Amino acid sequence: MISAEQEAREAALVERVVASFAGTPDPRTKELVEALTRHVHAFLRETRLTEEEWKRAIDFLTAVGDITDERRQEFIMLSDVLGASMQTITINNEAYANATEATVFGPFFVQGSPDVGLGGDVAGGAPGEPCWVSGTVTDTDGGPIAGARIEVWEADADGRYDVQYGDDRVTGRGHLHTDETGGFRFWAVTPTPYPIPDDGPVGMFLRATGRSPMRASHLHLMVQADGYRTLVTHVFPRGDAYLDSDSVFGVRESLIVDVHQQIPTTPTPDGREVTGPWARIEVDLVLAPA
Ligand code: BEZ
Ligand code: FE
Repeated sequence: MISAEQEAREAALVERVVASFAGTPDPRTKELVEALTRHVHAFLRETRLTEEEWKRAIDFLTAVGDITDERRQEFIMLSDVLGASMQTITINNEAYANATEATVFGPFFVQGSPDVGLGGDVAGGAPGEPCWVSGTVTDTDGGPIAGARIEVWEADADGRYDVQYGDDRVTGRGHLHTDETGGFRFWAVTPTPYPIPDDGPVGMFLRATGRSPMRASHLHLMVQADGYRTLVTHVFPRGDAYLDSDSVFGVRESLIVDVHQQIPTTPTPDGREVTGPWARIEVDLVLAPA
């Protein structure tokens, strides 16, 4: 229980800090810094943060900055595990009719992926079970969207993206364009679960809170077409062990798809020779207007 005088002193400080932003020329910046001040102070006052805890928080954020470079963005991962990335996506991609829902972008997209073409192979030699992915891109009235650019990226069966190997391999990524009917198809590897990089401060945070770094299995897709809202999404195999505990809160029920397992002797859709078992996924993607 704090005294009325202490209460008044704390509240007065909040108002003084908010007032210091009164001359901010840009109204949106003003709104953001004022709200940030109120929320940060509310957190400090509600939790009665100790000076020792404040110092540990500063050390933690310093470590997040220290490990961040052009290959590793620990701040984005921190935002991801706090659900802040997913909340921002939710706010900015309001449900629109039957448009496919968006989810987290993640840190492993790389510009300049190979053009694998329709029916091409985005695996590029990555270890994993071959998986034939096919479907359509349409507008919310079901009209086909021809020439939509589809970017695909995914981790291999060892749980790593190509950029995590530290060599110059390009695997598990590629792009292609839909045909005249909005159709697309490509080979990939069947998505498998993997941990987000947890050898830094975000990993420490997850361990301290008893949480797992595992992401539910997924394939990343980004679909771009003139006149439509760019869709950044995933498909998640039904039945995956981590659908209810995805470390970055990216799972949406509507993005869960069936993975149809095929025995080795089943002929592939394009006649490709596959020695072991393979799988197929069908996914229809619906774009909202821009
Ligand atoms: C990913 O899906 O690639 C990812 C998303 C958030 C954090 C780490 C990885
Ligand atoms: Fe991923």
